[in-house]
Amino acid sequence: MKRFTQIGAAVGAVAFMAAAVTGCGTNSTSGSTNSTSGSSGSEPTLVLATSADYKPYEYHDTSSGQDKIVGFDIDVANAIAKQLHFKVKIEDMDFDGLIAALQAHRADFVIAGMTATPQRKKSVDFSDVYYQAENVVITKKGDNIKSLKDLSGDKVAAQLGSIQEDAAKTIPNVKLDSLDTIPTVVQEVLSNRADAAVIENTVATGYVKSNPQLQINKIAGMTENGSAIAFPKGSPWTKKFDTAIEKMKKDGELQQLAEKWFGGGQ
Ligand code: ARG
Repeated sequence: MKRFTQIGAAVGAVAFMAAAVTGCGTNSTSGSTNSTSGSSGSEPTLVLATSADYKPYEYHDTSSGQDKIVGFDIDVANAIAKQLHFKVKIEDMDFDGLIAALQAHRADFVIAGMTATPQRKKSVDFSDVYYQAENVVITKKGDNIKSLKDLSGDKVAAQLGSIQEDAAKTIPNVKLDSLDTIPTVVQEVLSNRADAAVIENTVATGYVKSNPQLQINKIAGMTENGSAIAFPKGSPWTKKFDTAIEKMKKDGELQQLAEKWFGGGQ
């Protein structure tokens, strides 16, 4: 496939996003220190780090006139918080910075549609998988992509630090177009600055709905994309979260949330 692409001046990637957090105006870099101590009577606050560019997992909802971070992951985190009796404080950052935030103990956990890859497991601990999705390729309508090889020599966009970027790297002679956020990745395809983007099907669906000039191409044998919650190595929370996730799987709460946000099931 060949299509004219322009190396645009569009440095669209906004390097940081307004930290729309839950009511707390203050910078909370040390917020995680009080998390496990749980002074008697009051619930501890855990810092949840995410990259709120990933609708419907986590995104900024401004429809009420207020900027709120909402989504499937946020509901899952809040349901776990309810079970385990802690409060949640959200920190929004680029996806590529999430693992480092855990390592520096600037966050107690990351929920960001993140896949537990062997590489990441060297740096952080993961909960059990709470949702399974798959990767697809989005292009402009009319393209006929059946395998990653069909994108050989093309310019392919993906999110920086994601497993989709890893998948794009396997395309022969690819011109990799890595960007900080998913909206900017999709924008690359919409504006013909990239020929295609590798993205998760659950996320791609929303963009294709609102941009009918786009299409989803299913690719056989593309890596599965299970989401798990990440913690600093050795965190006492990992096991507790697993127990809570297990309960939510058994009693149907997880399924209900999946239906609410993805309109389908697991
Ligand atoms: N599941 C993919 C990964 O782990 C992409 C996740 C992107 N998440 C986000 N909030 N932007 O690499």
